[in-house]
Amino acid sequence: MDKTEQDELKKAAAKIAADKVENGIVLGVGTGSTVKFFIDWLGQRRNEGLKLKQIVTTSSRSKKQLEDLSFKVDELCDVDQVDLTVDGADRVDDNLDGIKGGGAALTLEKNVAVNSKKNIWIVDESKLVHHLSGFKLPVEVLPISAMQVKRRFESQGLNPEFRMVDGKRLKTHYGNYILDLDISPIPVPEGLADYLDHTVGVVEHGLFLNICDEVIVAKSDGIEE
Ligand code: 5RP
Repeated sequence: MDKTEQDELKKAAAKIAADKVENGIVLGVGTGSTVKFFIDWLGQRRNEGLKLKQIVTTSSRSKKQLEDLSFKVDELCDVDQVDLTVDGADRVDDNLDGIKGGGAALTLEKNVAVNSKKNIWIVDESKLVHHLSGFKLPVEVLPISAMQVKRRFESQGLNPEFRMVDGKRLKTHYGNYILDLDISPIPVPEGLADYLDHTVGVVEHGLFLNICDEVIVAKSDGIEE
C-alpha cells in the first residue's frame, strides 16, 4: 500500500470517529497522522454546529492544530473527567491491547486515556496484529538514570536503543528520553507492563493494556468497527 492509499484509509477511519463525537462532551484528542485527519473532520463538524464542553489533547502538535482551527484547548488537570478520547495506535492486537508512542507522546496519551470514560482508536489495517509485535516498544525514561535503566533492560534481553533525532537523543515533551525496546512478538505483555511499571527511572511505557474500548479500522475493502 502506498502512502496516498494509506492516508485515504486513515482519513476514512478518522471521519467515522468524528461522526461519533456528541454535543456537550469533554473530548480527548490524541496524537499522530491519523488523529491529524480526525482534527480536520472535527473542525468540519464544529462548523456544522457541534459544541463541545471542553477539549484536552496529548501533544503540542495536536494542540496547535486544534488552536489553528480556533478550538480552545484545556489541560488535563483542568477537567474532571474526559468522556471520550480518540487516538491512533502503532499496533492493536486481538484483545484491543496496543503499542503506542511512535510519536513519543505516550505519557500524556496514557494519562488522558486512563482518565477517559471511553477510548476509541483509529487505525489503518497495517496496524492490526494477532499478538503485539512488529513495532519497537517505546519507554519514556528519566535522563538522570537513563544509562542505568538501559543497562538493566539489556541484561533482561529487552534490546533497548535510545530514540535519536538529528544525531541527538530525542527529548519528549517532559524533557525525558525514549528507549525503544526491540522485542517482537512481546510474549507476555501484562508481565512486561508490570516489570516496566515497577522499574525506577521509567516514566511511562507504550503498552496500553485494557484501555481501548473500540477500534475503527480502515481497510482497503471498507471500514471495520
Ligand atoms: C503517538 C502515538 C500515535 O497515536 C501512533 O504513533 C499512531 O500514529 P499514526 O496515526 O501517525 O500512525 O502513539 O505517540
